[in-house]
This record gives sequence, structure tokens and C-alpha cells, in this order.
Amino acid sequence: MATTLRRPHYPVPVPVHEDLDPRRSDGVDDETDEVDDVGVRPLGDSGGTVSDEEEEVEDAVAEDIARFEASFRNITQRYRLINRIGEGTFSTVYKAEDLLYDHYQNEWDLDGDKENIDNISSSTLKQTSSRVQKPRYVAIKKIYITSSPLRILNELELLHDLRNSLNVCPLITAFRHHDQVIAVLPYFQHQDFREYYRDFTVDETRVYMHSLFTALSSVHEAGIIHRDIKPTNFLYSPSKQRGVLVDFGLAEREGTDYHHCTCCVEIPDRQRKIQTSVYATTVNAAFQAGQPVPKPTYPNNDQRSSRRANRAGTRGFRAPEVLLKCTAQNSLIDVWSCGIILLTFISKRFPFFHSADDIDAFIELCCIFGKKRMRDTASLHGQVLQTNVPNLTENGYSWEKILLWCTGRNKKGADGQGGLTEEEQEAVAFMSCCLELDPARRVTADEALDLPFLAGLGGSRMREDMEE
Ligand SMILES: Nc1ncnc2c1ncn2[C@@H]1O[C@H](COP(=O)(O)OP(=O)(O)O)[C@@H](O)[C@H]1O
Ligand SMILES: [Mg+2]
Ligand SMILES: [Zn+2]
Repeated sequence: MATTLRRPHYPVPVPVHEDLDPRRSDGVDDETDEVDDVGVRPLGDSGGTVSDEEEEVEDAVAEDIARFEASFRNITQRYRLINRIGEGTFSTVYKAEDLLYDHYQNEWDLDGDKENIDNISSSTLKQTSSRVQKPRYVAIKKIYITSSPLRILNELELLHDLRNSLNVCPLITAFRHHDQVIAVLPYFQHQDFREYYRDFTVDETRVYMHSLFTALSSVHEAGIIHRDIKPTNFLYSPSKQRGVLVDFGLAEREGTDYHHCTCCVEIPDRQRKIQTSVYATTVNAAFQAGQPVPKPTYPNNDQRSSRRANRAGTRGFRAPEVLLKCTAQNSLIDVWSCGIILLTFISKRFPFFHSADDIDAFIELCCIFGKKRMRDTASLHGQVLQTNVPNLTENGYSWEKILLWCTGRNKKGADGQGGLTEEEQEAVAFMSCCLELDPARRVTADEALDLPFLAGLGGSRMREDMEE
């Protein structure tokens, strides 16, 4: 059963740090600034403070940690860095013990007291409280100094806004030392996606997707687009059957940089626009004159400014409208990426798409959806699809065909054997709603929770109840 926990409501965020370093007599440090200090919401049973295993640390990582500790003033008084747990394009993430846990309110740690009580044997109870306490773990995200200050601020602000959101990893606090900013998050114990995606049953996948869509629905409700939904940004614990969404480094408020696109106009107006386009009139004129359709030509010296749109995200997870540089993108780009994650689970292929650039990515979609549908998708956003790739078919392939091929199975025969199972068909029906090429027809995160594939685990109404 999915274990989306209700987060109790907390009053307006409270600044919890009394001073910069309770152990320092002056309590003043003019070089390390607290960037944001929020009384964040609990993470539910994050598992963040449960584990106490000490992992082996490679020499190179130990050196990196030592360098970081030496360069970031006072960090060793607050945190004991244990290991490096993530290294991405924009940051390095460390697992650390929160040494000053007891000095602060820790609303983010719902299990705090319970865990200590549960795990203490009667003999240990006799010991001093400082000895019986398990270490409290946090994840320290060191954002690369090459990131623009605006981008860093954006990530911290959005995390702060999302502190009440279900299945979103909340921000505990953040610090700055010179040009280095670190964000402190509850450490969430999870497993690497590559270790479990092949073995997941459809039911286990269902629980994963329910947890992911619960997170997404609350993010979208706050008017925020994540923009980089992919397995490494959704930390999932198969044993706890829940996950948290992380990495709001590329996230943005819906409507940022919004410009008009043909996909926004009413269908009759759009059709009129497409039919009167230079491309359509050239093709029609040739057709009416009984001449062959002219080969597309391109101006030698194109004076038009190239189309600009936010293309942030990860290759293979980008929605068609992102690839087509739609200027009116909305939160539905995240739903597409969730659909790709589901496709990975049921095809047992990761990464499913493996393109070198956006053009390749578009061709990969053409392979599956066929040229006809991709031509329509391109013209939806005012673009024209021209391709001379020989093996693209007009109508593409059904999901059933692709999935059976991916998993080395046959189509259902006359003997009733083969084909997709009923559960798989239900997953495919759900996935098709997420991988709808036209964003206006794609399911929203909230609606997805009410579709048959997820509704049994508690639909969107249940989520509303949990939040009340
Ligand atoms: N709260 C957390 N608990 C445990 N691991 C985390 C946490 N936050 C991030 N990580 C690990 O660090 C990796 C990178 O973090 P992320 O926020 O995605 O940074 P980046 O912007 O560099 O991709 C994640 O994929 C995950 O493995
Ligand atoms: Mg990431
Ligand atoms: Zn568009």
C-alpha cells in the first residue's frame, strides 16, 4: 500500500536558529550568512534519520570532503560530513550528521522522538541521552559556484514555497560562505533506480507512480513546474514504498517566459493560421498547378531571429513541446517525463530514449508515434516537420508492439497465449494519457491520481483530505 503520509499543519515558518554557532561565545560570524531559515514541514517517515550504518569512504571522496570542510567556515561545527552521495551537473551532495540537531526545532523530522524511543533497549535507556541518540542525517547540497546567483536563489525560494508539499524533500536551511551556497535537506534513504526498475512488478510500479504523482500534483498546485523529472530526481525507497522529489534547480513558476504560441489559439483559428502559412500556400499552389511539391528550401541568409524557449531538462525526458521550442510550455511537460519513467519500468529499458541532441530526440519520437502524428504535433506549435530518414513509418507502432518487442515476447496468439497482461494493459492505458503528444489533451497530475491505474491507492480527493 502506498504510504503517502499526511503532513500535520504547522504555523507560519519560524526562524529557528538562535545564533550562528551556539558554541561560539560571540555568536557572530560575518562571513557565513544564513541564506534562508525556515521552520520546514516534516518529511513524514523520510527514513532520513533511521540509518546509522557508516559507509566506506573512498580516499578521493575523503579528500574532497576535507577540502570542502576547510573551505567552508564553521561547517564542521554544525555537520559531520560522512560521504559523497551525489554528483550532478549543478552540485555535489554529501550525507552528513546534524551535530546541532538538539539545538533546533526539527519539524521536518516526524520520526525524531518515536525513533529514539522505539530503538532504545531498557539497558540503553539507563545511559545518558546523548549516548543513546542516533545520529540525525541530512543531505548537504553544495551548489556549484558557477551557477548564477539568480538560479541558486530561485531553487531555494521554490523549495521554501514547497515546504508544505507532500512527497517533496523540504529545505531545512541554507548557508553561504563567500560565493559558496549550501542547501541543507533531510537525508532520504533511497535505492538507486537501476537496482530495482527491472524487477518491479506492475503493482510495485503503480505504488512508485502514485508517490511520484502525489509529489507532482502538489508541486503543480503551487504553480511550479519542476522541469527535470527523472529517476535520479525522485528518491524512492522500495522498502518504504515512498519517495521524495528533489532538485528544483531547473524549476520555475508557471508562466515565466510565457509567450504566445499557435498551440494556445482555438482550433479553427489555428487551422486557418496553418492553412495560410507560407509553407502551406507553397505546397497548395504546386498541387493545384499539377506540379510536384517543391523540395523545401532554406534562405541562405535567414534574417529571422531564431525561436527561443526554455529547453531546460534532461534528454530523453523532454516533452515534444519542449523539443519543438513551444513558448507556452506549462506544467504538463512534467507529466510527459513521468510517462517516460513509467515506460522505462514496463519496457525494462533504461534509458529508454538515448538521443545525442533535440533533433535526434524528435526523430526517436517519430519512430514510435509515426510521421503523421509528429507532423501534426510540429504544426500545433507552428513548426514544419521535414525528414528524409528512410525508415520512419507514417503511422508508427502501438505501445503493445513496442513493449512486447522490448521484453522479448510475442503477440497474443490464437491459443490465447502471449501479449501483454491485463495489468500491463492498464499501465499502458495510463501511460498513453501521460504521453499524449498534444499537451492540451494530456492528463494533469491531479487527474492522473484518479485514473484506474492509480485510483485504488487513493485518488486526488484523498490527497486533499490528507492535506486538510
Ligand atoms: N535529501 C536527499 N537525501 C538523500 N540523497 C539526496 C538528497 N538530495 C539529493 N540526494 C542525492 O544527490 C543527487 C543529486 O542531487 P540533486 O538535488 O538532484 O542535484 P543536481 O542538481 O546536481 O542534480 C540525487 O540524485 C541523490 O542521489
Ligand atoms: Mg538532479
Ligand atoms: Zn506551443
